[in-house]
Amino acid sequence: MSKPIETDIQEVREKNNVTWFNGAVSREKRENLHGHKGAVIWFTGLSASGKSTIAHHLERLLYEAGCSTYVFDGDNVRHGLCADLSFTPEHRSENIRRIGEMTKLFVDAGVIAVTAFISPYKEDRDSVRRLVGDASFLEIFVQCPPEVCAARDPKGLYERAQRGEIKEFTGVSAPYEEPADPDLTIHSSDEDADTAARRVYDLIKQRHIIGVSREAVEDHD
Ligand SMILES: Nc1ncnc2c1ncn2[C@@H]1O[C@H](COP(=O)(O)OP(=O)(O)OP(=O)(O)O)[C@@H](O)[C@H]1O
Ligand SMILES: [Mg+2]
Repeated sequence: MSKPIETDIQEVREKNNVTWFNGAVSREKRENLHGHKGAVIWFTGLSASGKSTIAHHLERLLYEAGCSTYVFDGDNVRHGLCADLSFTPEHRSENIRRIGEMTKLFVDAGVIAVTAFISPYKEDRDSVRRLVGDASFLEIFVQCPPEVCAARDPKGLYERAQRGEIKEFTGVSAPYEEPADPDLTIHSSDEDADTAARRVYDLIKQRHIIGVSREAVEDHD
């Protein structure tokens, strides 16, 4: 399977006469209803760095504050939407592209989409940022030394990768490109998951995604 590039997608759209339908209920109206903005909180980091753990702590905090949220988690997405994809560089990129498109729709729905994917390639993460828009995208780097991740190994994946049973395993036999300028870095070997989630929550507030009145959400754009 070849990676769909932007020019191909544009050609297919034109060939099929695909246009975007704008309904009467806008993103701003949906955000006003939710009382917060739509956004993507994108966690990236090695396997076992703590992305899922922190993402779900964060979702609980947001839920308790009355926010509409959804967590997209690696393995869950590969059960259906991306079940046809493997872990080659090409398929990893396509995996992130599809998830990016999905989160864009959630932002349009006025929801806070929290994602927990290794997403090892910088260009793929930057593409999602461009797609969603800078103001609606927070990149959270869960930094953790590979040896700490390998010692945690909650799914036994590092052990299997080191035995050669899993090919192209990030951090062992496939690369991970660290974010150059993330919105926030969490050092999960020094900071517990709850504290980390609270720091992300504070950042979401600082960026005025939450914590604004319903009317202000509508006025903001
Ligand atoms: N400070 C911390 N933050 C997050 N997880 C931690 C922390 N300290 C220890 N852990 C443990 O590390 C493990 C992290 O696993 P988790 O499934 O969250 O990682 P992940 O980054 O989602 O990995 P994968 O990419 O394989 O899905 C869990 O067992 C968790 O309890
Ligand atoms: Mg996970």
